[in-house]
Amino acid sequence: MHERAQALLVIALLVLLAVTVALDPRVPGYRSRYDAQATPAEVMRWQRDLLDWRRAPTWSKLPAPDFTASYVFGKYRYRLDVQISANELHYVSWGTDDQQGGGAWYAVGHGHRQADGEWFSIWSCLDLSREVSNGGGAWFAFSPDRRRIHVRYYHDTLPFGADPMELGEAVMVNLDAGAELTDETTYADPQWQTRTPEGRVRTYIETLQVRAELWGRVVDEQGRGIAGAAVKQRAAGRIEAVTDARGFFRLELEELEALTLLAAGKPGYYNGIVTLEQATALRAIGPGRDKSKVALATITLRRYDTHDYREYAWVAPDPDPAPENHLSCGNCHRREHEHWSRSRHASMAVNAWTRAAFERDARPHALADGRTQDDCTPCHSPSLASTLARFDLQGATLLDAAGVHLRGNHCDLCHKIEAVPDPDKPGMNGSARLLRPDPNDARVPGGIKRVFGPLPDVSFLYMGAAYNPLFSTGALCAACHQDGNAQGTYREWQRSKYATPAHLKHCQDCHMPAYTRGEPKSFPGPDGRPIMVASGDLTGEEAAANGVAIARYSTRFRPLNEAHKHSFVGTEDADFLRAGVTMHVEKVPIVDGVRLRVTLTNVGAGHAIPTGHGLKRYVLSVHGRAGGQPLAFAGGLPESERAGAAASATTGALIGRQFSSDWSVPYWRGQPTQDTRLLPDEPQVFTFDLPGAESVEVKLTMRRGSPALLQQHGLDPERTAIAGAQNDLVVHTWRSR
Ligand code: HEC
Ligand code: HEC
Ligand code: HEC
Ligand code: HEC
Ligand code: HEC
Repeated sequence: MHERAQALLVIALLVLLAVTVALDPRVPGYRSRYDAQATPAEVMRWQRDLLDWRRAPTWSKLPAPDFTASYVFGKYRYRLDVQISANELHYVSWGTDDQQGGGAWYAVGHGHRQADGEWFSIWSCLDLSREVSNGGGAWFAFSPDRRRIHVRYYHDTLPFGADPMELGEAVMVNLDAGAELTDETTYADPQWQTRTPEGRVRTYIETLQVRAELWGRVVDEQGRGIAGAAVKQRAAGRIEAVTDARGFFRLELEELEALTLLAAGKPGYYNGIVTLEQATALRAIGPGRDKSKVALATITLRRYDTHDYREYAWVAPDPDPAPENHLSCGNCHRREHEHWSRSRHASMAVNAWTRAAFERDARPHALADGRTQDDCTPCHSPSLASTLARFDLQGATLLDAAGVHLRGNHCDLCHKIEAVPDPDKPGMNGSARLLRPDPNDARVPGGIKRVFGPLPDVSFLYMGAAYNPLFSTGALCAACHQDGNAQGTYREWQRSKYATPAHLKHCQDCHMPAYTRGEPKSFPGPDGRPIMVASGDLTGEEAAANGVAIARYSTRFRPLNEAHKHSFVGTEDADFLRAGVTMHVEKVPIVDGVRLRVTLTNVGAGHAIPTGHGLKRYVLSVHGRAGGQPLAFAGGLPESERAGAAASATTGALIGRQFSSDWSVPYWRGQPTQDTRLLPDEPQVFTFDLPGAESVEVKLTMRRGSPALLQQHGLDPERTAIAGAQNDLVVHTWRSR
């Protein structure tokens, strides 16, 4: 009888809740789409997905906690296992969403007890069924006996504004450690039967139009102020403040939203984030100068271990739905992956020419010279190189790359470069300093443990994100694009105007440009609802939100300047080259034939054209004709380069670096003798006389390598594509009329 009354009460409460939600003007954000049911087949699949996820990272390796308990949360009966040690809270949570667009998911959370007794935590979720990620923050208020937790939480995915917060209650269930939740355990438990049957009630908090001053401090785990930390609101588009010598910072807010997400980062520490709720921010508020409001915040940063753990296993870049490969970068960072995988960074370890050049030429040549040091692998197979203790031509070399190492300069590798202490050394041999994390560090869930990146406001726990401004400068690229005299791109850049404050452009600004917005257009779809399309790089949703998602479903959109195309655009893109170098041809009539004055100017490259180790060259070829026939070859171009697009040239010039009198000798077999490259904004004028010419054609061709050298390496320069590109790419053509 008593139980019946309780059940009735629950039903009555449910009805009341439904009515409240339907009628209450304070919760306009509550949408019933949450409750639309998925198909039974989908739900079955998600349940299987969850069972497959046994190898999930857990917090089980953490030091013995003072308190552990299992809870169920919300009407979908999510499992929530909580551990507390002193003032630190850890939890894992998992379940299936039997709603439309749901899935099986697994989340971890980490937080601390606040001064008011509540616990604030960041939670991060892996959606196991759809390979997406998600996260946010949650406040836990425990009942005195800890049998219930009142939870307020938000998703980063939701657009913020007035209703970002949802409410729910978690109820303790009696489970043996590690036991699975079954219908019997939950429904037999009296606590469960009186649960609050929701988990997804949105709150409504109006944005306050007040000028607020936000005072804060960035501290380490011992509470000491951290100087020089970068501080910003989440996705603000820029670093908004830098802490002073005692760790203090000050921000001005134009309005106070329901939530203010504040983050900080500094090299040496993992990023930290706090979330100010309007109500608590206001409670701390006192009158400031000019009667503005003042709120207070403390952001704690945790130091990372500065030992490089060589045993760390690289996480593969390519999307992979297998549960054990759930953290493959491409699963979440789809767009970065798509662009990167078409770049030369992805193909470098399998580049057929590099392999042939090494195997047939550089290695035998060095060995014949009595040298045994491998000077190629540290840059061309950096992933494999990172596992080698020394670089020995008779040991493992780029030819031995296998598995993830075949993915060249992959995501995890580049994002674990902590510093480039000596740009002039080659790649993984002294230039790039990797900081691979401890694979057994239980405080960061998942296998990635740490990434360095340009954003101090990334808090997704599986990333272990650590702000590193190196990523926004060309010093990072210098790891492999600068090598003493062999390769000088970084130093060329430093001498160019692009390294000066007035014209500052880093390698990234040109080779990792921002996504283009394009024009969003909306047209009615089959069901009458509008479909958005955009002409730029953005999806319709992104165009509408005027931002970019850098990981699928991960967060609110980021402003365009917080996302960088990972195309590493280079010589495969004719338009890019065309924008870098101009060709102006002036025709001067002479008595018998034609005189041409050709001006080439490097107008767009932040270094010499061509740059790199002198294998590339530009061929300026002049093709004269008379009586329908090509004119006889008149010199100017070396014979060996009168091939490919320049095959019928009458004359011309070669723009590049020479390492002997013969243009086909590569840098590893010669000494620099001549440099005819185009430096930024320094035009070069070439004059050609073509006696007897009736018509002339001028071509400027980017040539990957000397045709004679390619032939020596067993490749056919006219036919073989090198890493997907032809040897010759005609950039400009001019024809006389
Ligand atoms: C399960 C999804 C997921 C996977 C897998 C994943 N990431 Fe992330 N990553 C995220 C999310 C979410 C963010 C934060 C997005 C935001 O805040 O806008 C992020 C952010 C980043 C950032 C920015 C960090 C900063 O502070 O600038 C980098 C770099 C990054 N990820 C690299 C990687 C690499 C490398 C891999 C593979 C080794 C990887 N990610 C795998 C979800 C993922
Ligand atoms: C770990 C070494 C390494 C790092 C770090 C690195 N690169 Fe590269 N990069 C290479 C190698 C090696 C190649 C040539 C690969 C090939 O052609 O097979 C290359 C190729 C390129 C190309 C294409 C060149 C062409 O011929 O089209 C561009 C552009 C480029 N890198 C830009 C960058 C930028 C910008 C950065 C810094 C953000 C950077 N790289 C960092 C090693 C590196
Ligand atoms: C050659 C090194 C390099 C490689 C390889 C690389 N990245 Fe990055 N990544 C960068 C740099 C540099 C930035 C920051 C650009 C800036 O701030 O100008 C960045 C930024 C990011 C960010 C932050 C958002 C943004 O776009 O600025 C994410 C996320 C990210 N990378 C993920 C990836 C993933 C996933 C891959 C592999 C598919 C990858 N990266 C491969 C160098 C690299
Ligand atoms: C102002 C824009 C700009 C900046 C800054 C810049 N580059 Fe370039 N880069 C270009 C252009 C344009 C080209 C194509 C040049 C051409 O026409 O051949 C290019 C070509 C390249 C190539 C392909 C090889 C070649 O000779 O064409 C590499 C590699 C490269 N850049 C690396 C870098 C690195 C590393 C940095 C920073 C140290 C950097 N770039 C800075 C614009 C830039
Ligand atoms: C400091 C890093 C570094 C070292 C060391 C290095 N390379 Fe490179 N290599 C590059 C970069 C960066 C590029 C692309 C830019 C350029 O030079 O055009 C490249 C391009 C090449 C290419 C042209 C690939 C193509 O498809 O166009 C070949 C071939 C090559 N390297 C061979 C070698 C050999 C052989 C060695 C050893 C003797 C070597 N490299 C040492 C960084 C390096």
